Amino acid sequence: MQRLAPALRQDNVPLDLISLIKTVLAATKEISFRVSQAHLGGLMGSTLDENIQGEVQKQLDVVANQLIKDVLLESGFVKAISSEEEDTSVPGDENGHFIVSFDPLDGSSNIDINSLIGTIFSIHEAPKDMAADDPDMFKQAGNKQVCAGYVLYGPSTMLVMTTGSGTHFYVLDRTHGGYLLVERNVQIPQETQEFAINMSNQRFWQAPMQDYIADLLKGDQGPRGKNFNMRWIAAMVGDVHRVLTRGGIFTYPADNRNAEKPYKLRLMYEANPMSFLIEQAGGLSMTSEGRIMDIEPSSIHQRVEVILGSKKEVEACLGYYK
Ligand code: AHG
Ligand code: MN
Ligand code: MN
Ligand code: MN
Repeated sequence: MQRLAPALRQDNVPLDLISLIKTVLAATKEISFRVSQAHLGGLMGSTLDENIQGEVQKQLDVVANQLIKDVLLESGFVKAISSEEEDTSVPGDENGHFIVSFDPLDGSSNIDINSLIGTIFSIHEAPKDMAADDPDMFKQAGNKQVCAGYVLYGPSTMLVMTTGSGTHFYVLDRTHGGYLLVERNVQIPQETQEFAINMSNQRFWQAPMQDYIADLLKGDQGPRGKNFNMRWIAAMVGDVHRVLTRGGIFTYPADNRNAEKPYKLRLMYEANPMSFLIEQAGGLSMTSEGRIMDIEPSSIHQRVEVILGSKKEVEACLGYYK
């Protein structure tokens, strides 16, 4: 099996980007170890703090954030970082070529139940004409990402990454301590009979999503003419990984629970990197109004509606919004 760096060189990834990717991954290996230690490391449970989005931070959210932040800011490759767990962007090296956005631990509610969690990251080139402490550097559309990926801390620790030449799967090989390529150019099946949505929010959705899901539930007696199965891991990394592996549709639609917060998922470090991975694997990643990666961001913690997965199923869903 091929090691990570030669696999990236084969895709003509520039050497400084390869070095940055290896830096991010060094932190994920440490997080993978800490996560596996669980109670033994004294890292279960919540802190007394909230992040800027009003979520109570788990101890592991904070530790994972610090690990990634430290390696990136010390590396010299990075002009600034932004994270779910940081109020605003954090400046790094003025000469750094890249900016990195990340969700240090996705699926926080799964931490204490020893279930699926992961790290999501997104890399853009740093604008040369802006200062390292200028948060506006992050106002770049997802279609300008040079790399996106996630690491899933599951039964095996898996890296799923794209640099724009397909989406590839790697597994952390603990015998030599590096990630090995296990599947090149993953392709999502275009059609599916599996959907992922938090059904408990049904009464808050807009009419088109209500109608779409109602038709899926009618099964082979309904307009779709086939039976659908439902899965919800409550961690976007886990749900997207299933979609990449065997197809499906994943959505966190707009809802009216909180008028100021119609969406749950965050554009820069959840929706954009996942969109890059899904599109590179032949899937679609949309809002009900258009392509997620074409959104011009207005702020670091901006939220967005997400409908992604198997191409034909995403199109079927969007058909209800017309
Ligand atoms: P995070 O743990 O990084 O705050 O993200 C949680 C997100 C996402 O991973 C997942 O798809 C969704 O929240 C789960 O939402 P529900 O609580 O509605 O299941
Ligand atoms: Mn969170
Ligand atoms: Mn998340
Ligand atoms: Mn998180």
